[in-house]
Amino acid sequence: VFATPTAAARELAAEVRQLIEYRKAEGRNAVLGLATGSTPVPFYRELIRLHREEGLSFQNVITFNLDEYYGLAPEHPESYARFMAEQLFNHIDIPNENIHIPSGQVPGNQVFVHCREYEEAIEKAGGIDLQILGIGRTGHIGFNEPGSSKESLTRRITLDRITRQDAAGDFRGEQNVPHFAITMGVGTILRGRKLALMAWGENKAGIVARAVEGSVTDTVSASFLQEHPDARFFVDQGAASELV
Ligand code: F6R
Repeated sequence: VFATPTAAARELAAEVRQLIEYRKAEGRNAVLGLATGSTPVPFYRELIRLHREEGLSFQNVITFNLDEYYGLAPEHPESYARFMAEQLFNHIDIPNENIHIPSGQVPGNQVFVHCREYEEAIEKAGGIDLQILGIGRTGHIGFNEPGSSKESLTRRITLDRITRQDAAGDFRGEQNVPHFAITMGVGTILRGRKLALMAWGENKAGIVARAVEGSVTDTVSASFLQEHPDARFFVDQGAASELV
């Protein structure tokens, strides 16, 4: 539990720096799983600062994003591809070919193959060293809405009503929010060697408490993190306020 999101984001970014430098010393790549949304913004800001002011290079970093809205082109203002470019990738020296984001535009009859190839690409990269996560008010990690099984892999999913309502502001109305997304599965996420979930503000306090202290259940996908050997929550005072 941290005093502010900035303090938590700095700590996590310092860990990412260590991982990147450690892997570089070994002559290997660091593989990061990344999230979008408002939560990781201070974390990405700190990574950009480390790059600009402290010379941290991302040349040996490979990234896999958790999810993308299905039906959106990468140029769409609310696509996660665009978000990642604006919030992180345009400001660091990561090679373009090292960036992976599920496609929101793959035709319906190719979704299954696309998702399988995404899983294969993660495996080929050596698996995810550190997976960054946020949490939705439905308890989703990635877009694994309630009912997602612990074994679920990358697939197309129907977004929950609450998730679409929460995105309505960004899309200027709930009617403009896509109904589907492509997301890594809970099983995909749980294969990551280390998991770090960030959450800020009282709005997230109830779901953080259920994820951390409630029973492990597919009605709260984030509760499966309790069964992972190296999963941590980075929260501010607000998000921690309903923890016992
Ligand atoms: C986004 C993602 C989602 C978000 C969650 C919280 O890639 O995987 O699980 O982390 O919806 O969103 P924010 O941070 O906007 O509250």
